[in-house]
Amino acid sequence: MSQATQQPAEAVSPYLPRAAKIVEAKDFTEQEKYFRFEFEDGQGIEYLPGQFMEVSVFGIGEAPISICSSGGKRDDLEMCIRSAGDVTNALHELNVGDTVGLRGPMGNGLDMDAMEGMDLLFVAGGLGLAPCRSFILTALENREKFGRVTILYGSRTPKDLLYAYDLDAWRDRDDCEFLVTVDRGDDDWTGNTGVITTLFRKIDRPDAANTAAFIIGPPVMFKFTVLEALAMGLRKNNIYCSLERRMKCGLGKCGHCQIRNVYVCQDGPIFSYAEVMRLREGI
Ligand SMILES: Cc1cc2nc3c(=O)[nH]c(=O)nc-3n(C[C@H](O)[C@H](O)[C@H](O)COP(=O)(O)OP(=O)(O)OC[C@H]3O[C@@H](n4cnc5c(N)ncnc54)[C@H](O)[C@@H]3O)c2cc1C
Ligand code: FES
Repeated sequence: MSQATQQPAEAVSPYLPRAAKIVEAKDFTEQEKYFRFEFEDGQGIEYLPGQFMEVSVFGIGEAPISICSSGGKRDDLEMCIRSAGDVTNALHELNVGDTVGLRGPMGNGLDMDAMEGMDLLFVAGGLGLAPCRSFILTALENREKFGRVTILYGSRTPKDLLYAYDLDAWRDRDDCEFLVTVDRGDDDWTGNTGVITTLFRKIDRPDAANTAAFIIGPPVMFKFTVLEALAMGLRKNNIYCSLERRMKCGLGKCGHCQIRNVYVCQDGPIFSYAEVMRLREGI
């Protein structure tokens, strides 16, 4: 057997996906579906929170999707995928036992060990909970390393809430503060109503100099939420976001994701707000 055939496929060419089987799948909402994958070569994967994979449906195409399970070395991989077009619609047709292609992990991600001793503030809007969940789970699995942990999550309506089982678990923990809000409640909703920035008034003022914030959600949410974080005194280089650009190769080759001299697929998608400000003219 040649050396090439003994190596995992990704080592042969970064463009060649590894085959992965869907081992769990469930509908979260009408638009979002949860998947857990395991690689058919049995070799697992190691990644940082904030990294993503290029997911391919054979014969259709590829799409970049964030990894939403906790970071580290694992046998499996979780994702939450919204049906938005050709690839993601085709993914929604797949179920347990079906095979997809996975290339990655891609992008920079963030090593949370660098934040040891800091307080953590997670602010997730809508589907932004998917990438944010990887950071949250990593923090909660290493709870002793961090100070206060606060999680704020907002969605449009109660029907749009993702990861109901995680939300219940976070609510029940006494070592983190978890608040959720919806823009519009329904007859059964008894929780907070209003945009996510309203939750900032309900939490204790953070130790601004020692807090790292992760703000991940649609651009309009980011714009207003970052103002709240700055008003609390958080430092621009301690506020992190995930920039989503149209991507193809994920390898810094095709230029689809380029902003000035930065390839978001390689230098990002996780940037500090200070870095985003420097890129601002190109966004
Ligand atoms: C780093 C990163 C992480 C991501 N993580 C997630 C995740 O965790 N979950 C998730 O659901 N999604 C995630 N996305 C978004 C996801 O990649 C896109 O929704 C997906 O690529 C859509 O692919 P598609 O083939 O299904 O849709 P497409 O067929 O490509 O169409 C998607 C939509 O974009 C429009 N469109 C198509 N081409 C263009 C173009 N050139 N310019 C502008 N608009 C166009 C289409 O009209 C359609 O409305 C992530 C994206 C990035 C970059
Ligand atoms: S997606 Fe090709 S360079 Fe970033």
